[in-house]
Amino acid sequence: MKKLSILAVACAALLSSCTCSNEVKNEPQDNGKAALEVIMTRTSIRQYTDQPVEMEKVEAMLRAGMAAPTAMNAQPWHFVVINDKAKLEELAAANPRGKMLQSAPLAIVVCGDMSKTREGKAREFWIQDCSAATENILLAAHAQGLGAVWTALHPMDERIAPVCEALKLPESFIPLCTIIIGYPAEQPQPKDKWKPENVSYNEFGHSNQ
Ligand SMILES: Cc1cc2nc3c(=O)[nH]c(=O)nc-3n(C[C@H](O)[C@H](O)[C@H](O)COP(=O)(O)O)c2cc1C
Repeated sequence: MKKLSILAVACAALLSSCTCSNEVKNEPQDNGKAALEVIMTRTSIRQYTDQPVEMEKVEAMLRAGMAAPTAMNAQPWHFVVINDKAKLEELAAANPRGKMLQSAPLAIVVCGDMSKTREGKAREFWIQDCSAATENILLAAHAQGLGAVWTALHPMDERIAPVCEALKLPESFIPLCTIIIGYPAEQPQPKDKWKPENVSYNEFGHSNQ
């Protein structure tokens, strides 16, 4: 009998520890300070050291990208990681606003995959979906001590075509942007973009007073 009750207590303890580890932790110890700090201190970085980016950090950025919300959970994306110097230079030559690719050790091209989008008008959600992934990657880069910048491809056809060619992208792919990443060789101040006049409460033009 004694043995049975010890077993029951052990099972209960095990079950309760399982429940705890599966719980969604929605109450951060620091009131979200760490996450907000990463968001508020991110800024575009366009100069990089020669230090290569570790593959664990690359995977963490990709995981962050794929954690983004997507319309109807379609996840209509594909990420091309570029760490080959020749390929980075090829992309630099094709993008007048992305010359930083020449000196960067890493880039991630975020592509929409039209074969994974929903039908009709909902197809266009791919842009929001891939943009959400892009912002998550920028934040994950910054959180890991890296610097990054979003450089636009879509909707500039003349930038899209050479990227499709260089990366041998399938027909169904549209590259949204190239995220250029590396260890920062500059420390620009994050811009203060807070403008209360860009916010209304309950009706346009109403303040919160
Ligand atoms: C859709 C989009 C396209 C962008 N394209 C480029 C680009 O082609 N080249 C570049 O250097 N920066 C590009 N940027 C970065 C912006 O210039 C930058 O985010 C903006 O100036 C605000 O600065 P911050 O990122 O430091 O807050 C782009 C950003 C976005 C969101």
